[in-house]
Amino acid sequence: MIGRLNHVAIAVKDLEASTALYRDTLGARVSQPQPEPEHGVTVVFVELPNTKIELLEPLGADSPIAKFLERNADGGIHHICYEVDDILAARDRLKAQGARILGSGEPRIGAHGKPVLFLHPKDFLGTLVELEQA
Ligand code: CO
Repeated sequence: MIGRLNHVAIAVKDLEASTALYRDTLGARVSQPQPEPEHGVTVVFVELPNTKIELLEPLGADSPIAKFLERNADGGIHHICYEVDDILAARDRLKAQGARILGSGEPRIGAHGKPVLFLHPKDFLGTLVELEQA
């Protein structure tokens, strides 16, 4: 059911320093910072040949990333995102197998303008999983 790895998201405390690390030390192509107030993050996209890395810095008071950074002072992998062809079919299949969908259970429009859902980390090996309709 799942397809390509769309991105790995890394929560960071200092977006400028983290961007410089990927750009200068690792030699990767990076985007300009993109504020996404609806998602409580500012994001920099790191373009790799086969996938993306997203560097997420908290934006605003109730950012979902802020709590994660309280528990992970150095930052860390926040979630991984897999592509699916049909997000509602994927959701229904997962629900039928007992997996928990976060939030309302209805897809939201994610950072790339496409419908996304998040799956409970306790059901997926301790990893927050995002599904994005490709
Ligand atoms: Co994501």
